[in-house]
Amino acid sequence: MNIEIVSCVPYNDQKPGTSGLRKSVKQFQKPDYLQTFVQAIFNTLPEREGSTLILGGDGRYFNREAIQVILRMAAANGIGKILVGKGGILSTPAASHLIRKHQALGGIILSASHNPGGPDGDFGIKFNTSNGGPAPESFTEAIYENSKTLEEYRITPIKPVPLDKVGVYDLYSMHIEVVDSVADYMALMEEIFDFDKISQLLRSEHFSMRFDAMHAVTGPYAHTILEERLGAPQGTVMHGLPLANFGGGHPDPNQAHAKELMALLYSPKNIAFGAASDGDGDRNMILGNHFFVTPSDSLAILAANAHLVPGYQQGIAGIARSMPTSQAPDRVAARLGIPAFETPTGWKFFGNLLDAGRITLCGEESFGTSSNHIREKDGLWAVLFWLNLLAVKQESVASIVRQHWAEYGRNYYSRHDYEAIPTASANTLMEHLRQQFDKLPGQMLHGKQVKAADDFMYVDPVDGSTSAQQGIRILFTDDSRLIFRLSGTGTQGATLRVYLEQYESDPAKHDQDPQLALADLINIANDLAKIPEFTGRINADVIT
Ligand code: G6P
Ligand code: ZN
Repeated sequence: MNIEIVSCVPYNDQKPGTSGLRKSVKQFQKPDYLQTFVQAIFNTLPEREGSTLILGGDGRYFNREAIQVILRMAAANGIGKILVGKGGILSTPAASHLIRKHQALGGIILSASHNPGGPDGDFGIKFNTSNGGPAPESFTEAIYENSKTLEEYRITPIKPVPLDKVGVYDLYSMHIEVVDSVADYMALMEEIFDFDKISQLLRSEHFSMRFDAMHAVTGPYAHTILEERLGAPQGTVMHGLPLANFGGGHPDPNQAHAKELMALLYSPKNIAFGAASDGDGDRNMILGNHFFVTPSDSLAILAANAHLVPGYQQGIAGIARSMPTSQAPDRVAARLGIPAFETPTGWKFFGNLLDAGRITLCGEESFGTSSNHIREKDGLWAVLFWLNLLAVKQESVASIVRQHWAEYGRNYYSRHDYEAIPTASANTLMEHLRQQFDKLPGQMLHGKQVKAADDFMYVDPVDGSTSAQQGIRILFTDDSRLIFRLSGTGTQGATLRVYLEQYESDPAKHDQDPQLALADLINIANDLAKIPEFTGRINADVIT
């Protein structure tokens, strides 16, 4: 085989964040930047010789070029077989499924998730291990360490592989299969959900829905599954054509960025159900008519009703949520008599619990929900889960949520983001909060008493590994919580996230505007963290 060994100068900034290495496209276009990171991944995989890998991305700008480079490097690094999604496209959940289905050594997923794309946008690359989930920190740290001293990479000088049709190719000793990006994923969904019932609902004249693919990777999945297979009318899927720059939009399914979908669901058009997914298809937003379901409530409701879905009929083993996610799912777990786990932010922390069979469902406030069917969060899965519930219950989204609140109480919840603030100011703000830990317990603030104040530390119950400083928690005696965290996925400066949660058991008080219901906590957050003083911002940039 003709292998080129190319000398390169190591970079020192290839430290993966919450979800892989995420940088501006411009950074990735620096000489050998992509190659260095990819070689570091291969170097961290001693068992790579002859192994199988899955490869695909969310279709953003630089996706195709990167795929060709990775194929050439994989051949030169002894990989035996690579399955690549047609057109270089694989949603993150579909990639996770393929890794598991083919018992691959892992997968390389090209995505910067919900970050904007295009030549001035972001790009990202992450490695998922053989369980289909994001690589654990020990692995990403090893990649980072390797990248810092890497002085050469291996590549084969082959012609680009045609990616636009399904087919097989042999590159030296490596076998490449270009596979249909949707088929296997759809088959998995069909095993879990009652497609006949959902299809009846979607074909009914009395029901209409919109799914916003935000010009990102779920377009082809949603067209095939919702419209072609399940019979939803054409036009159900909005922005279904994946574009390299996501049509100039911000492919993040929340109230701020899915504006057109929000406007439709809050219009007189009487659309019963709305949903959206992000750049790489792992996030979801769920809407009813004139109604927004918080991701935390969504997880709690899916868990409480899981027995109505064929794939979870036998019951669920446990539920996990990330620490800043509201405690609504814990109440369901308590009622079901199953364990509830609280993990740091980042999907990788659910992997061990899922592998050990300790949980079946998991989710995060950041619009991520999933189950043990794969090891990633799964946007379309959540949409199909809701559709399955709507088909069984024959009730509106709003009434399902209201009944849930009536039964369990409502955890009012909101997140306020302050984006692109100088990193030094953000760190000072966090330090300023830490300095108050000792004196806060017992204090009365805006009528609430502080129970505890600390940095969240996680001890993985399966392997005993610990993760410190995973967000600052101010806990109150009435179960309210105020959480401060710096984002691990931003690419410019720091993003401060303030998470606000307050429990209300009285159904007569379940119809308030969350921002009003949380007003005291918002004031406490400002007082304790001196947000305007440290960040120069009076208002949050994004409120979800
Ligand atoms: C990615 C990860 C999630 C995580 C989210 C928020 O989407 O896959 O697991 O919750 O980022 O991360 P951040 O650090 O920006 O709050
Ligand atoms: Zn994503």
